[in-house]
Amino acid sequence: MIQLDHITVDFPRGNQQSARAVDDVSLRINRGEVYGIVGASGAGKSTLLRTINLLQRPSIGDVVVNDVQVSSLTGGALRLARQKIGMIFQHFNLMHTRTVAGNVAFSLRAAGKSSDDIAHRVPEILALVGLADKAKAFPAQLSGGQKQRVGIARAIANQPEVLLCDEPTSALDLETSASILALLKEINVRLGITIVLISHEMTVVKAICDRVAVMTGGKVVEEGDVFDIFATPRHEFTRQLVSHTFNLELPPRLLQELQGTLLKILFVGASAEQPVLSDVAMRYGVSVNILHGKIEYIGHRALGILVALLTHPSDPARVAEAVNYIQENTARVEVLHG
Ligand SMILES: Nc1ncnc2c1ncn2[C@@H]1O[C@H](COP(=O)(O)OP(=O)(O)O)[C@@H](O)[C@H]1O
Ligand SMILES: [Mg+2]
Repeated sequence: MIQLDHITVDFPRGNQQSARAVDDVSLRINRGEVYGIVGASGAGKSTLLRTINLLQRPSIGDVVVNDVQVSSLTGGALRLARQKIGMIFQHFNLMHTRTVAGNVAFSLRAAGKSSDDIAHRVPEILALVGLADKAKAFPAQLSGGQKQRVGIARAIANQPEVLLCDEPTSALDLETSASILALLKEINVRLGITIVLISHEMTVVKAICDRVAVMTGGKVVEEGDVFDIFATPRHEFTRQLVSHTFNLELPPRLLQELQGTLLKILFVGASAEQPVLSDVAMRYGVSVNILHGKIEYIGHRALGILVALLTHPSDPARVAEAVNYIQENTARVEVLHG
């Protein structure tokens, strides 16, 4: 659906130098998927996203959306292509002097729809985003979540093929974020709209994305299925993002007093069903003390993580053998201490 080929964006910066915001990024985004781009602030995510509807023209590279080479369009042809690409923003970007209905009608009018069409479509779209009773309200009278629903209504009014979402929940509280993400997922499934969503939070990616690209310093350093990225992050930056999301920190006092070998163990699929820890307790005579753990559900798949302390009353070699055994029988083991 979307093909980005060797996209580079340079911003002029006085004295003949320029700053490279996006550095040779190539991505393929499939029709009907929810694709995430995650990275820290300043990584180049917004700039990359804006090349998809050519709000930002790439310095180098090609953008193709649904077989149309967007990056070579200008004027009327570009305006037409943009109608097929909706966009929503962190701070909603609503027109404050127009009502909710007026905001949605504005998009339809800009696309040349007739007054009859508009009168018919607006209530339909507002019902879809859960704002049927807010047509006459002004943006200032709405909560953050409701404002974003107006943003979404406006963006999907012209039945786009693609919806670009720039940090759509970053200005919202947790509960409201979850409801907006659920609405985006519903729009993706019911209307078949391909979604590209950027965020600085892995939790957002985990909630609705099928695949994700990880961006840092203008480059995509890793890409893949969301589950795989969580289960086996390869790049150091991705590892940090993922481990931050799992939030399995132990209290410093506990770490200082620790005796034995501390492991972080990842269970995926079949390995989650094996009684690995009771096995090592019996085989090697080690005691296993579980200090932290959780199961993350990503899509419909479970990813189990345990932080466990292994000790043996007299023979440290038995602990080393136990660690080997766990390594052979689980998805991944990290030695955190000892
Ligand atoms: N219009 C612009 N002019 C100059 N520099 C810009 C412009 N937009 C973004 N940048 C710079 O490009 C880099 C990437 O920015 P951005 O794409 O907004 O990152 P992100 O969305 O990941 O936070 C930053 O260093 C930012 O300062
Ligand atoms: Mg941004």
